[in-house]
Amino acid sequence: MRRRVKLVRRRRRRANPSSLISNELIVDGLGHFLLDHFRSGAGSVLDLGAGTKPYAPLYELCFDHCVAVDVGSSPHDIGGVDVIADAAGLPFHDATFDCIICTEVLEHCPEPWLVLHEMRRVLKPDGRVYLTTPFLVALHEMPHDYFRFTPSALRRMSEDAGFECCSVSPRGDRFAVTLLTLQFPISKPLQWLRRLGAYGYANPLVFALVAAPQLLYLRYWRRAQERPGSRFARLAGRMEGATLGYVTCLHAPLAEGPPVQASSPLLGCRPSLLGATHPGEGVAGTRAGSV
Ligand SMILES: C[S@@+](CC[C@H](N)C(=O)[O-])C[C@H]1O[C@@H](n2cnc3c(N)ncnc32)[C@H](O)[C@@H]1O
Repeated sequence: MRRRVKLVRRRRRRANPSSLISNELIVDGLGHFLLDHFRSGAGSVLDLGAGTKPYAPLYELCFDHCVAVDVGSSPHDIGGVDVIADAAGLPFHDATFDCIICTEVLEHCPEPWLVLHEMRRVLKPDGRVYLTTPFLVALHEMPHDYFRFTPSALRRMSEDAGFECCSVSPRGDRFAVTLLTLQFPISKPLQWLRRLGAYGYANPLVFALVAAPQLLYLRYWRRAQERPGSRFARLAGRMEGATLGYVTCLHAPLAEGPPVQASSPLLGCRPSLLGATHPGEGVAGTRAGSV
């Protein structure tokens, strides 16, 4: 797992040095989450709103059945996705998956509470969700960027959907938000290098101006998390209240929770139409490996 975490970190750094802090903290958190709950290598996982499936090398180690879902209108290369469907109406039976991974998707869903109900429905009792959402981050994937969630909203919405909310953890503090805000006028013009395929971690200019300050920040943040009571931890404590985003871990209780609503009209069917677009614009479809 540690090697895979390093591999995914490296790929994410190469792909997008501007979001290094957020991406690394998502990878770190996911590595811990999988090791804590899914060491066996058996069971099934749903990567909801998978995009290019950047975390597949991690979760593929922990499950023998992996299903990636996205909408047909995704701005990302979704060639590796298995099922085209809207997260608010999933074409899977109740209690299908042991785990759901949903990274940076909920803010793109106009009715995120329905998505949480759908997650609860397709998750097995005792299943777990790794959910990440941005907080102080610029608008993206417009016009389908609808929400930013506070910890209270994440707890409230997930409990309303029948989950136990195990934790809501920030990804960075006010320093991280300030750093990325100050970096923007530098990183934005540098991004023209993308056209030459040179906006990467390996480019010395990008490394020095964009990546290195974020790596330095990560060292501080990780120390603060690993050593509670240290002066880094005390400093991070004073800098909380603003963050790049949250990592939320949810658990589906064994005992029956509140009734799960928001059942999908597509339940259990294997629709033949591909190319659902954004919510309400299309019909869910299956590419391969539907559960
Ligand atoms: C910011 S990207 C994140 C992709 C990937 N999870 C990651 O962390 O790199 C958001 C993804 O959510 C997908 N998405 C947006 N609305 C969705 C919906 N209603 N149902 C399923 N996926 C959706 C988008 O197509 C896009 O691939």
